[in-house]
Amino acid sequence: MARARTSAKAARFTESVIREMTRLANQHGAVNLSQGFPDFPAPDAIKAAACEAIRADVNQYAITWGAKPLRDAIAADASRRAGLSVDPQTQVTVCCGSTEAMMATMLAIVDPGDEVVVFEPFYENYGPDAVLSGATPRFVRLRRPAGPGGDWTFDPDELAAAFSNRTRAIIINTPNNPTGKVFTRDELAGIARLCQQWDVMAVTDEIYEHILYDGARHVPMASLDGMADRTITINSVSKTFSVTGWRVGWTIAPPDISSGIRKVHDFLTVGAAAPLQAAAAAALGMPAAYFSDLAATYGRRRDRLMDILGRAGFQCFQPRGAYYIMTDITPFGFPDDVAFARHLVTDVGVASVPGSSFYREPASGRTEVRFCFCKKDETLAAAEERLSRLRVKA
Ligand SMILES: Cc1ncc(COP(=O)(O)O)c(C=O)c1O
Repeated sequence: MARARTSAKAARFTESVIREMTRLANQHGAVNLSQGFPDFPAPDAIKAAACEAIRADVNQYAITWGAKPLRDAIAADASRRAGLSVDPQTQVTVCCGSTEAMMATMLAIVDPGDEVVVFEPFYENYGPDAVLSGATPRFVRLRRPAGPGGDWTFDPDELAAAFSNRTRAIIINTPNNPTGKVFTRDELAGIARLCQQWDVMAVTDEIYEHILYDGARHVPMASLDGMADRTITINSVSKTFSVTGWRVGWTIAPPDISSGIRKVHDFLTVGAAAPLQAAAAAALGMPAAYFSDLAATYGRRRDRLMDILGRAGFQCFQPRGAYYIMTDITPFGFPDDVAFARHLVTDVGVASVPGSSFYREPASGRTEVRFCFCKKDETLAAAEERLSRLRVKA
């Protein structure tokens, strides 16, 4: 008789803590500063493009690796912004968000037992991505800024020690979730040297490339000398155009790697929603002012939430990019991050993400929680009002 059970793989990771926090926020009527989705409208022009595509009957399967107009737009965008020469016929694969792009990439390049270097704290999906692809993650710690205005750093020796002839890839996320770190050109050059020395692929999640503060510059890994041939760049429309529900993302990779990604992608999902691919192509053609306004508006939201959290008693690590603030919760005297986040969502009415969900060992994140600020002014004002009920331990 068949026994109902999940696979050993599925048993090795938990449900997403971030999405669980959203469900708890809904249940308790809390202000949701946990999951990173905007609560304000997407640009009218791209919504019109999506409606128009449906009316024009772009309603059947697109080519599995992506509709040509979107692949062309992605290649043109990579050339315009990063000076990269990308062949849309052989190097671009459109996926269902960067979530699928990362999973398809890992399944396409990793064999069971291969090691993949991951900086921690990390975006929580990278853990299950490693488990499902059979990779053994090797974690390298991003260390907290030493003081106000400082940056998250890593120890180059610790990074070098994580590479060996078992290493297949390194995952880099810049601008970074959850820390807000923007990797510098020097840091990326050091990583590139290790990739070349050990014949390792760089997988770079650049989904927050346009959300930058204080003059920070995004450096695409593929633009560094010798890296175009060993970089898989992952991106999506989710964050840049405030359409996380559209599920349109992509990979840019050398042709032989792309063909592996395309096969995996085809059997995972066939393809992303065809009319939304048409609209994504229109989105990539938005005028330059759209992208600078996006960063400027997020800069104001960042300052607002930094101020709110600081006054409520959190120690905040100021982000240079992306739209999250990592905080230290020690002043509140809770036993750990999960107990604190539960108190915050059920008693105070604000949802955050416990820091432990960004680390391999939960204890590493026990004094941290993350807030997001991709929210309307009213939402941040409601959070401010509720956080005034929070008390630091005397
Ligand atoms: C670093 C990072 N990568 C990927 C994703 C998921 O992106 P998508 O909506 O394109 O699947 C997120 C969403 O929060 C993220 O923060």
